[in-house]
Amino acid sequence: ITTAVAWASIGYLLGSIPFGILLARVLNLGDLRKIGSGNIGATNVLRTGNKKAAAATLLLDGGKGAVAVLIARAIAGQDAAIIAGLFAFIGHCFPVWLKFKGGKGVATFIGIMLAIAWPVGLAVCATWLITAVVSRYSSLSALLAAGMSAVYAVFLGYGHLFGFCIVLAVLIYWRHAENIRRLRAGTESKIGKK
Ligand code: G3P
Repeated sequence: ITTAVAWASIGYLLGSIPFGILLARVLNLGDLRKIGSGNIGATNVLRTGNKKAAAATLLLDGGKGAVAVLIARAIAGQDAAIIAGLFAFIGHCFPVWLKFKGGKGVATFIGIMLAIAWPVGLAVCATWLITAVVSRYSSLSALLAAGMSAVYAVFLGYGHLFGFCIVLAVLIYWRHAENIRRLRAGTESKIGKK
């Protein structure tokens, strides 16, 4: 139990680093909360017009999830890795530093999946990319990719991750409530648009 709490805390702390907010501040891109969707993720950083900052946010938000998983697995094994990954995701969505108002978890989810089970991670990335190229909606791509992750886990031989994928997908859908509303109303903004 104590090790589980320790890995949950380490995962949470890593996940709670709001790289989008930090980069936007350092690069004087404005307050992400007042731009576009108001979200702290790479998609919204892109709405500032700074592609490099958006790419860096994507890599850093994904990287922190992957790092949490990899450190935990190297030191304490696969169960610790899953706990650290789950809490890195929770840290990104509900960071204490931002009064628990964080992001939607997509980049962090992808980083976690690549680190926990890279074939599943790659399938999730491919789903995101193909949907993004076809639809130009970041949120729709995330919803499809997250929704498919549990299916990929089962078919690629990681059935033990089914529940983990479902929990993360449910959280991602919940965090995208506004996006789902906009998608249905036809008012969701496309990638790179304000
Ligand atoms: O990664 C978050 C993305 O799915 C939606 O971002 O800023 O359009 O709400 P945003």
